[in-house]
Amino acid sequence: MPVSFVGGSGPRLTDVDGNEYVDFALAYGPMLLGHSPSAVVEAVHRQIDKGLGYGASHPLELALAEAVCRTVPSAELCAFSNTGSEAVHAALRIARAATGRRRIVKFRGHYHGWLDPLHIGVGGSVDAREPGTSGQDPDASRSVDVCPWDDISALRKLLDSEVAAVIMEPIAVNRGCLSATPGYLQAVRELTAQNGTLLIFDEVITGFRVALGGAQQRLGVTPDLTILGKAMGGGFPISAVCGRQDVMQEVASRRVSHMGTFNANPICAAAALAAIGEYERNADEIYPALEESGIALGNAFRESASAADVPMHVNQVGAAGYAYIAKSAVLTYDDTLTADPEAYVRLAELLLEEGIHVIPRGILYTSTTHTDRETSELESALERAMPRLSSELANGEPLGAERLDNSDSKAPAS
Ligand SMILES: Cc1ncc(COP(=O)(O)O)c(C=O)c1O
Repeated sequence: MPVSFVGGSGPRLTDVDGNEYVDFALAYGPMLLGHSPSAVVEAVHRQIDKGLGYGASHPLELALAEAVCRTVPSAELCAFSNTGSEAVHAALRIARAATGRRRIVKFRGHYHGWLDPLHIGVGGSVDAREPGTSGQDPDASRSVDVCPWDDISALRKLLDSEVAAVIMEPIAVNRGCLSATPGYLQAVRELTAQNGTLLIFDEVITGFRVALGGAQQRLGVTPDLTILGKAMGGGFPISAVCGRQDVMQEVASRRVSHMGTFNANPICAAAALAAIGEYERNADEIYPALEESGIALGNAFRESASAADVPMHVNQVGAAGYAYIAKSAVLTYDDTLTADPEAYVRLAELLLEEGIHVIPRGILYTSTTHTDRETSELESALERAMPRLSSELANGEPLGAERLDNSDSKAPAS
């Protein structure tokens, strides 16, 4: 049964029946400050009394743009949208306008939102161009090439004078929290610059999460354009495309029209400004603590799996991680195809019974409110859940989606 939540506070969620869960899903990432962080909630309350939307510029928008430009290395100018998907597509439009070129290169397994042109090759299929869902228009992705990641010669072959931009998740969180071989991102940076192609980092997950300045700061590679979302809003729907002044000038000059009724909505801008304020002011404490809670989270899964004889591999970068049930290490896209996603779905279900909420796909998130107490609750839950999974695996019982398909009472779609 899908769980229906009625409350969230710090690292915890409460469901309709009053059960409490320690949350390592964090609304798919935005809650880096935990649920209902007081700084964000108070800023929103203050703004609510002043108006819900103006359809025009306002001081919070300017202050937020300045905060992004202070914290994100590539950001010199900034424009706001509501969701990551929208900001990705604004970035593509800006890149095409700035270069006068049409083609885009994306990478296999990298997710950039649900809109048709880029929602191909998102993983799990031998067909690198397979649409992510039915109902997509295959023509929408005609000018997009899908390239294997962490393979510089494959990228070299695709880059020509028609390629406007190369877009990637600088840490491939959506496909296993995979990190590229050292030197690869630098090589992509050089290659794109030589080719007159813009490099776009989609930091919707990694922005503010793996470092104050995101993956680009952590890895020391500066793209031309960056997309931010999730944690930037502290729980409110706001996203940004930002980057080099001369490139973003396409928007500033209005040659690229940046449309959207709710763009830079003042409530969301107030929330984002408060969230970035928290990250920035407390960076010296927050980021080392997130690093530690991320490591503790990964270790809890690894150690309990090893004790229960469940083959598991966990990748972790700061406050983001990904757990796979797989017989050998999962370090590349091809490795991810050897994992057993059904078994992990079952583990997520068993953990839910133990008061732990995780994303069934494998992504693991921690927040600034997760402490040793949450780690030990996770460890105790895993101590009970892992042996149950182990015996189900040993008995060959149907797991995950296969199990739901076989059951009489199918879970309703959420
Ligand atoms: C890397 C990345 N880019 C873009 C998106 C799309 O963001 P949204 O769901 O806000 O449209 C996501 C969402 O998970 C993401 O992980």
